[in-house]
Amino acid sequence: MRYKGIIFDLDGVICSTDEYHYLAWKALADRLGIPFDRERNNLLRGVSRMASLEVILEKSCTTYSDEDKAAFAEEKNATYRQLLGRMSPKDLPDDVQNTLKALRTSDIKLAIGSSSKNTPFILERIGLESFFDAVADGNCITHSKPHPEVFLKAAGMISLSPQECLVVEDAHAGVEAAIAGGFDCAAIGDARDDGRAKWHLEKFSDLLHIR
Ligand code: BG6
Ligand code: MG
Repeated sequence: MRYKGIIFDLDGVICSTDEYHYLAWKALADRLGIPFDRERNNLLRGVSRMASLEVILEKSCTTYSDEDKAAFAEEKNATYRQLLGRMSPKDLPDDVQNTLKALRTSDIKLAIGSSSKNTPFILERIGLESFFDAVADGNCITHSKPHPEVFLKAAGMISLSPQECLVVEDAHAGVEAAIAGGFDCAAIGDARDDGRAKWHLEKFSDLLHIR
C-alpha cells in the first residue's frame, strides 16, 4: 500500500454507533415534538454534539436558551451512553476485525480521528482500547469536522505528514475535513460516492485492495 498510515473515523466506519447516535437524537426530538428522520440524521455525521443539536433545533418553532441546549445535549448523551453500554467486542463487524488484523501485520501505522468525546468508551466496549497507534478525538480538538484539526492531530501523533496518510470516512463533513487537511480519503457508507474522495469503498475490507 502507498500509505504509511491510515486514520479511521470511528462512528459509522469502525462500528455502527452512528445508529445509536440516531436513536438517541430521535428520542430527544420526539420528546420535544421536532421532526427528525434518518435522512436528516445523515447531516449530523462527523458533526460535533452541539452543532448536531443546532441542526435538530432548526426544525423547532421554539427558541431555546443556552442552558436548555446544554441540558438537551446532556440528555441525548445519556441516552447514547446507555446504548453504548450494551456494546461488546461482538459489535465489531467481522469484516472490520479481519481487515484491521491484516493491516496490523504490516508496518502501516493505524490511528483514530473522531469528533466524538465518547471515543475512549466506545473503543473499550468493542475491545480496541489498546489496538491503535494513536487516538485523536473530540476530547483533544477545538474545531470539529469539517475542520481538519482531528486528522492533523492524528497524523502528528503517528509522526507522518498528511500526504503519507489515508483517511477513512463515512461522513461528507469528514471527507471535506480530510481534503482540507491535505489527506487522500477513502469514503464508505453514506459518503461513499462523495466525488472529493480518492477511493470509494463498498466494504471495509476493500481497503486491502488499495495499493
Ligand atoms: C461523530 C459522529 O463521530 O461524533 C457525530 O459522527 C457525533 O454524529 C460526534 O455528533 C460527537 O459525538 P459525541 O459522542 O461526542 O457526542
Ligand atoms: Mg462517522
